[in-house]
Amino acid sequence: MREKSRYLLALYTSPRRRGNTSLLLDSASEGALEANIDVVSFHTARMDIRPCRACESCSRDGECIQKDDMQEIYPHLLQAGAVALAAPIFSMNICAQAKALIDRCQRFWAMRYVLGREPVEAELAAERRGLFISCCGRNAPETFECTRPTLAYFFHIIGIKNWVSQTYAGVDKAGEIRGVAGALSTAREWGESLGIWASKA
Ligand SMILES: Cc1cc2nc3c(=O)[nH]c(=O)nc-3n(C[C@H](O)[C@H](O)[C@H](O)COP(=O)(O)O)c2cc1C
Repeated sequence: MREKSRYLLALYTSPRRRGNTSLLLDSASEGALEANIDVVSFHTARMDIRPCRACESCSRDGECIQKDDMQEIYPHLLQAGAVALAAPIFSMNICAQAKALIDRCQRFWAMRYVLGREPVEAELAAERRGLFISCCGRNAPETFECTRPTLAYFFHIIGIKNWVSQTYAGVDKAGEIRGVAGALSTAREWGESLGIWASKA
């Protein structure tokens, strides 16, 4: 892993700042920091990230025509050694804030499938890691099934083959995740596992 990529991109998408998915992502980030891996975080619900307009401008040059806060995140999506996306379930799927961010990755799809350019260099893609964190209020773990194709698409389009999910059902009120045995420590362990880059330095 090249030095410039040895960091975790932490994408918080819930509008609840101290909510369940945020606490899990905090734990993953703490684990990374503990292992001497830097973390770059974005709270996307507080940013100006508009939905894709399907204007197809990205099919011409691979760029997104919308000059909003997504422009700040784009370089990290291609450069970070690890990307963790935390998104609660709203109305049986990931929240709209997370979906908007993923839809705005259409420019990477266009780069690869229209313009024939790989958005991420092969050497980095082979080493990158991904984490999807989610919680839902109803005690129905099958709720997360419909998130899988979307997340598989997201990680595929940003060149991450090695990704895992940490999902918890029956977690509703902000902070309830603290009462789920092993949840925060599992997230923390994932962050700590990124320390492998530091040991390879
Ligand atoms: C608009 C909205 C829609 C929701 N829809 C669902 C749902 O379809 N199924 C479910 O189990 N929980 C649903 N929930 C509950 C959240 O998934 C749950 O509170 C979760 O812990 C929120 O995570 P957060 O604290 O990270 O925001 C919904 C909550 C909101 C605010």
